[in-house]
Amino acid sequence: MIEAVWVEKYRPRKLDEMVGQREVVERLRGYVASRNMPNLLFAGPPGTGKTTAALALAREFFGKNWRANFLELNASDERGIDVVRGKIKNFARTQAIGGDFKIIFLDEADALTKDAQHALRRTMEMYTHTCRFILSCNYSSKIIEPIQSRCALFRFRPLSDEDVAQVVRRIAMKEGLDLTKDGMEAILYVAEGDLRRAINLLQSAAAFGREIDADLVYRVVGKARPQEVREMLATAMKGDYIKAREKLRELMITYGMSGEDVVAQMHRETFNLDIPPKLKVELVDIIGEYDFRIKEGASELIQLEALLAQFVAKGGGEDRV
Ligand SMILES: Nc1ncnc2c1ncn2[C@@H]1O[C@H](COP(=O)(O)OP(=O)(O)OP(=O)(O)O)[C@@H](O)[C@H]1O
Ligand SMILES: [Mg+2]
Repeated sequence: MIEAVWVEKYRPRKLDEMVGQREVVERLRGYVASRNMPNLLFAGPPGTGKTTAALALAREFFGKNWRANFLELNASDERGIDVVRGKIKNFARTQAIGGDFKIIFLDEADALTKDAQHALRRTMEMYTHTCRFILSCNYSSKIIEPIQSRCALFRFRPLSDEDVAQVVRRIAMKEGLDLTKDGMEAILYVAEGDLRRAINLLQSAAAFGREIDADLVYRVVGKARPQEVREMLATAMKGDYIKAREKLRELMITYGMSGEDVVAQMHRETFNLDIPPKLKVELVDIIGEYDFRIKEGASELIQLEALLAQFVAKGGGEDRV
């Protein structure tokens, strides 16, 4: 049997089962109680419950009929907005079953061009009597004003480490895994409030064994342990360039990290170095430059080694080389 994807298997069915997003859940529950709702705009980072909330809302409004009354579409369907509008038209043509309206959930609405959004807006107006729209996006600022003003805005926040940990712990228990303390910390570090990423990571790691520790987690994601990166930076700042460079090569080989990944992690760990804030600012500015060069296609290893040299210079350690 092919194993189910855990993000789906453990997706909450009810609003009350969601973690975090208290304010969002509270307001959505109000709509269920009043048996009506306006068009909604869900904005927030990936993996924080936007699709989950829309599905749960549909279940609470329509009970067992929810599937007949709920249409999920990707707004940025590569075949174009006309295909999306066609599907909406088709779906909106018939009456809702056991309810006053149907719900159309449009994922990735912010990927639409302005023109496509205007077309969407006209479609939304055409079906106001029979349908409610839920638009989902990462950035509400990318949604044109006329659509924003027709929707109630819901902001989804990155989930707290406690919330992510709570879900991950429960799944690990149900799946019979032995998740160590440092394994959990590693998952939280990598997930950064994205629960989908956390759950997927747990599942990928579980494919290698029942015991999940930090080593396994970092190996699965191809990320270095944060303390290893920090150590490399600190070594460079102390002036030991040769050792820092060895560490860099080791990280890239052990974890199979790309140049962009290393820079991203150096960026993140720079804030955790024990150095004055002014120095952090200067380093972050420099990192930005090297990130750009690598993205533009410059040789990764040369750029990373040059960036490490900058840490040596900023650490004032070059005199000791
Ligand atoms: N607040 C939450 N409570 C419980 N589980 C959650 C929550 N947010 C996300 N999840 C879990 O993570 C998975 C992904 O969440 P979801 O699909 O809702 O993310 P999303 O916000 O729609 O992300 P995207 O912007 O990428 O579409 C869900 O299947 C669920 O298992
Ligand atoms: Mg989604």
